[in-house]
Amino acid sequence: MSKHGAVEQQLSLYPPPEDFVRRAHVQGMNAYRELYARAEKQPEEFWGEVAERELFWFEKWRHVFEWDPPFAKWFTGGKINASYNCLDRHLATRRRNKIAIIWEGEPGDQRMISYFELHRLVCRFANVLKSRGWKTGDRAIIYMPMVPELAVAMLACARLGITHSVVFGGFSAEALKARVQDLEAGLVITADGGWRRGREIRLKATVDEALAECPTVRDVIVYRRTGGQVSMQEGRDFWWHELDEGASEVCPAVPLDAEHPLYVLYTSGTTGKPKGILHTTGGYLTQCAATMKWVFDLREEDTYWCTADIGWVTGHSYIVYGPLAAGATSVVYEGAPDFPQYDRFWRIVEKYGVSIFYTSPTAIRALLRQGDKWPEMHDLSTLRLLGSVGEPINPAAWEWYHRVIGKGRCPIVDTWWQTETGAIMISPMPGATPLKPGSASFPLPGVIADVVDMNGDPVGPDKEGFLVIKRPWPAMLRTIWRDPERYKSQYWNRVPGVYFTGDAARRDSNGYFTVLGRVDDVMNVSGHRLSTMEIESALVRHPSVAEAAVVGRPDEVTGQAVCAFITLKKGNWDHKKLSDELRQWVAHEIGAFARPAEIRFAEALPKTRSGKIMRRLLREIVTTRAVTGDVTTLEDMAVIGRLAEQRGEEE
Ligand code: WTA
Repeated sequence: MSKHGAVEQQLSLYPPPEDFVRRAHVQGMNAYRELYARAEKQPEEFWGEVAERELFWFEKWRHVFEWDPPFAKWFTGGKINASYNCLDRHLATRRRNKIAIIWEGEPGDQRMISYFELHRLVCRFANVLKSRGWKTGDRAIIYMPMVPELAVAMLACARLGITHSVVFGGFSAEALKARVQDLEAGLVITADGGWRRGREIRLKATVDEALAECPTVRDVIVYRRTGGQVSMQEGRDFWWHELDEGASEVCPAVPLDAEHPLYVLYTSGTTGKPKGILHTTGGYLTQCAATMKWVFDLREEDTYWCTADIGWVTGHSYIVYGPLAAGATSVVYEGAPDFPQYDRFWRIVEKYGVSIFYTSPTAIRALLRQGDKWPEMHDLSTLRLLGSVGEPINPAAWEWYHRVIGKGRCPIVDTWWQTETGAIMISPMPGATPLKPGSASFPLPGVIADVVDMNGDPVGPDKEGFLVIKRPWPAMLRTIWRDPERYKSQYWNRVPGVYFTGDAARRDSNGYFTVLGRVDDVMNVSGHRLSTMEIESALVRHPSVAEAAVVGRPDEVTGQAVCAFITLKKGNWDHKKLSDELRQWVAHEIGAFARPAEIRFAEALPKTRSGKIMRRLLREIVTTRAVTGDVTTLEDMAVIGRLAEQRGEEE
């Protein structure tokens, strides 16, 4: 540690345990610094070596990197297949009969699937897709519960070069419809339903509702999970198990361009319309595989568990593509962390001997509140590394995670990244980095990050600014699906010449990054990204609502909670009844996870003289119940007083 930064010195740092360092892929800070310096000075050589070492290429690339700002291409001319790298490549090694996926359903059912077996399942299903006429360049929507067949569907698409878009099972029919339409998908892969807290989430019924207005969809393939009632539309809907019967287990992977679109994943932005983040193949897979070693320090004998849902980017990169490309044994769990009791996570850790555990701060905080007795009921001694992702982790939750779950033995990797970055960007390397609770610490090799002001000038130590990335990286998004202009303006024109993350951050005098949260109109609720505008647009579609303004309110468990300010159209409204109805409405328009926690009815919303809603003031009201900032542009001062006094209708 340097002699500078007295304030930071007072915060205790946790050096990596010696026995961890001895066996780690990257040992000690000097090793990290060397790697970092090498990647910074010779990025093409560096990434070329990583890509060659971690992956199998049918044909080698001509150029590691081509940059026509802000459009990047990686490994151009190279031929590769993600499904081949996750499966076939392992079959010629001793991983052939290694378990790829340990799956546990919420009701307690269990499957152990080896690489050999997973390969067979994927080949069979790819042949099903082929026999229905689907091919390279087509697009499929996948809307499934957390069953192994979700990964099978993704890998079968990847095998043939069908670009997939997984839609999180919590999204409503409206949200699903918007994604099918934007992607112009021809194929939907779904299931009858899935289990969540003992209840069946009926997915097929939602698909039916969504597809009423999706003329592009020709085929719907339905996996049977719950055995619940579904209606099948003749000529459009097919049972997975019927099509799969007698399908061949031989299906060669198609050699695809390194830049072939692997998937589109929709995420919330600052407007009402979700953005289709496009990821391609070679660069994406390179960085996913590399971070499995750098960040998770993955070894052959590890049992790795990422608790995310595959419907979010964390599940794409760190349940499916990263771990399988790296040949890991990975746990996949279908249901909720608190079902049937608060010890479900710890029970699973004990049962399968999980050694690497990766989860969200929201889950940690929710389980922490239930007390130490739940983890204490279980033997957690197999754990050697813990991870966190999705939102800032507050030091108190960090300490609990470290002490009660990791027994003080396990380093914690606080990993910062985004749907757009594709892979982890800022994170400790567990055998190298002294940990600072609440800080994601240092950028990984090849990631040039900085904290700057609006002009792009670095703000200096301990000052808050915008987190930016100054050089393209292999797993970066390539564009927004069918909207390159939005891609340019959202990410590359905000601060001149660099990638704008939308996050605020601070760097201390030792170089530790602390990510503070979003600076735009994106909220982070339980690690789910939600757009204030998207919820507002949903609310104003309701016949009673005149205007809506949505802000994030700090919440002890979920990080932020959705708080909606509403003005109503003329009429006699029962506020209590209406707030329940509006919550239901948002669940229907977007998904239950976007439901406002609090609704406040107001006579008017604070606006500027030009008519823009001043969300900043609303944020202050819900955070501090008072307004301290500049209100000189406010049109009607009295509005603020009335809003601040009011209490909302809470769920
Ligand atoms: C936030 C999830 C602080 C951040 C992989 C980012 C974090 C957004 C961290 C992306 C972290 C993610 N510390 N904040 N370790 N990780 N975030 O696209 O605001 O769902 O911009 O990707 O989550 O969310 P997304």
